[in-house]
Amino acid sequence: MENQGLYVKFNILIVGTIFFCGMIIGGMLLKTTSDSMVDSLISSGQEVASALAVTVGNDILLDDRFSMQERLARTKETNDQVRYIIVSYPNGAVLTSTFVQDLPEGLPAVRLPSSEHGIDSQLFASSEGRIREVMVPIEDGVIGYVRVGMGEKQMMAQLQDKCLQAILAVFFICVIASVLATRYAQSFLRPIRKLGFAVKQIDKGKYGIQVPVNSSDEIGQLASTFNNMSKGLRETVDENDRLVKALQQKEKDRAWLINQLFSAREDERRRISRELHDESSQSMASILTYLRVLHDKLYTDEQREMLFEIRELTASTLGSIRQIAVDLHPPLLEDLGLAVAIEKYLDPIKKSNPEIEFKLEILGNLSQLAKPVALMCYRTLQECIGNILKHARAKKVDIKLVMDDKNVHLTVRDDGVGFTEQDAKQARLNRHLGLVSMQERTELLKGRFSLDTTRGHGTEIAISLPIAVEEEGVEIDHEEKS
Ligand SMILES: Nc1ncnc2c1ncn2[C@@H]1O[C@H](COP(=O)(O)OP(=O)(O)OP(=O)(O)O)[C@@H](O)[C@H]1O
Ligand SMILES: [Mg+2]
Repeated sequence: MENQGLYVKFNILIVGTIFFCGMIIGGMLLKTTSDSMVDSLISSGQEVASALAVTVGNDILLDDRFSMQERLARTKETNDQVRYIIVSYPNGAVLTSTFVQDLPEGLPAVRLPSSEHGIDSQLFASSEGRIREVMVPIEDGVIGYVRVGMGEKQMMAQLQDKCLQAILAVFFICVIASVLATRYAQSFLRPIRKLGFAVKQIDKGKYGIQVPVNSSDEIGQLASTFNNMSKGLRETVDENDRLVKALQQKEKDRAWLINQLFSAREDERRRISRELHDESSQSMASILTYLRVLHDKLYTDEQREMLFEIRELTASTLGSIRQIAVDLHPPLLEDLGLAVAIEKYLDPIKKSNPEIEFKLEILGNLSQLAKPVALMCYRTLQECIGNILKHARAKKVDIKLVMDDKNVHLTVRDDGVGFTEQDAKQARLNRHLGLVSMQERTELLKGRFSLDTTRGHGTEIAISLPIAVEEEGVEIDHEEKS
């Protein structure tokens, strides 16, 4: 029943109820009809018996058996319902009857009235069928009794007819009720079906759909509440779409601004690097040449000693200036590629930090890398190594640069002190943005950034970047753009 449609449920409910009630009412009517039929059978049996009792009484007194026999036969013939007539002695034994032979099985040969007054009728299931026998005394039973057997066959046939009529009536009422129930269910369910369809449309994302409100009953109220809800949903979705679009635009603007910022920073670094290399380094180199020339023109050892120290100081300053120039913009990255640039970057760091064991592993042909991606890898490594030297107090640093068909993966792992989310947050508040800019730049190149660190258990920073910069992707290297 639970899986059936509402039409079927409606039909089962209404037709079932009508059938059940019809059956009860029909049963009660049949019972009443059968009772009244039995009553009328008994009273007609009594009429026949009473009339016979008067005439048969005379025949007995005159001992005219022949006339009595004839009277009984005639009476039986003229009345369809009379199956037999028995005249009995006062002691109940049969005097004469309409039976040619013995009494049929099931009928008592000797019978006395069960009560002195009132109608005496008894039901016998004989070989002649169900017999309702009415007994009337002749002269108060002094002469004898007349027993008239009324057959119930006719009555039962009538009752069967009535029963059939009742069943047919209930059947027709059920058919009419089923048609009406289906009609009613259709008109009742139409708005609900429309509501169901509208809900499915909303489920498919077609918000704002409305259903007709045809009445002010519960279904009408449901429809108008649905309409309000659907309208509200449409407005909310529209507002959300607008907000999402605004957010996307803002995100685009932010990415563009960040890109501009990084590009400007790279430009500035390159400019300062070139200036340091082309101008300051050249001037320092010239100073060194002059100092060497001056060395030969000095007279005392003391003067030469001082000049030597000036030359040493100048040479070390020149070295520092060159290192700063390289750090600011690695010319090797463009000339010899990422692998060489990384090795050259690490060389002086290894020398000045002999207590740290550096391990570098490079897999794949890095020459396919787009310039912004190579520069991003280089800058990330610089930031990670800078952080390790500044904060980690590490003994071991593992650097891994692996390239597959689509991406390049850089992983820098140290076994230092690690840090907490709180440390990183505090650094951000103090405008230390090394980690933040690493993450931002990775996302600008549509890459993935991950950071894994626990206090006392080291730090691992990994980035994955697509090898080729997408057409619509944001370029980081300003030089690439120009
Ligand atoms: N490898 C590391 N080991 C331990 N702590 C680290 C490591 N890397 C970063 N941190 C912690 O995370 C904080 C944020 O690092 P971030 O690079 O953003 O800033 P910074 O290095 O302090 O300053 P900036 O990079 O701007 O010069 C650092 O202050 C430090 O506490
Ligand atoms: Mg840093």
